Amino acid sequence: MSELKITNLAASVEGKDILKDVSLTVKGGEIHALMGPNGTGKSTLGYVLVGHPNYTIKKGSIKLDGVELVGKLPEERARAGLFLAFQNPVPVQGVRLSAFLRTAYNQLHPDEKIPIKEFYDSMKAHMKKIGIDESFMSRSINEGFSGGERKRFEILQMVMLRPKIIVLDEIDSGLDVDALRIVAEEIREYHSQDTGFLIITHYQRILKNIQPEFVHVLMDGRVVKEGGNDLSLKIEDEGYDWIRSEA
Ligand SMILES: Nc1ncnc2c1ncn2[C@@H]1O[C@H](COP(=O)(O)OP(=O)(O)O)[C@@H](O)[C@H]1O
Ligand SMILES: [Mg+2]
Repeated sequence: MSELKITNLAASVEGKDILKDVSLTVKGGEIHALMGPNGTGKSTLGYVLVGHPNYTIKKGSIKLDGVELVGKLPEERARAGLFLAFQNPVPVQGVRLSAFLRTAYNQLHPDEKIPIKEFYDSMKAHMKKIGIDESFMSRSINEGFSGGERKRFEILQMVMLRPKIIVLDEIDSGLDVDALRIVAEEIREYHSQDTGFLIITHYQRILKNIQPEFVHVLMDGRVVKEGGNDLSLKIEDEGYDWIRSEA
């Protein structure tokens, strides 16, 4: 079973200390939610996990199946099985969506040779399910995509690339109710296949459909509260102030 183990992680960006001490373990088949008010370092954690070059790790470790990821390149981390769906996915000019996914898949799973037709057929089937028109296959990544289309494409990547541990950063923002339901269905399906999820969100909205088993609250770069799904419901009702005064 796969396991992402984050221990005493501290990180800075532009000389500013954002993550101060984060420890968190996500195992295959588990759904975790990372909640917290705006600006507390949730997206920073996502970027640090996948090795974004702007972020400096000051201390701590990030292990996937016992292998240290700190110091590794983003592509090595992806190959190890880590995937991040971005809060704000960016356009990539001149790179076709279909070619991108095919190349990424081959890089992540070099030992598997899926015939191209089979791969594209599977891609089309997933696109249909997620609600992305087939014509998007030949479009440049995220160029001219609406917010919701970008989010759906993140989900398509998630299901096509078959990572071991998936971090979803505010996947619910910009999604309408139908898309949210589809996303929740995909997450539930993958969760049953031994994939571990860390769902970053400041709303309870998406969690209603997903029902995470573990909820962690990040404030000022530290995990200050942990609990089950009931914690997310309490946050929905009462906000974060009570946690802040406790901490
Ligand atoms: N590239 C950056 N340069 C300077 N400050 C940044 C940068 N990225 C994030 N920050 C700051 O780090 C803090 C945490 O941001 P972020 O991780 O995006 O929070 P969250 O996702 O929890 O809303 C914020 O104060 C933000 O302004
Ligand atoms: Mg964020």
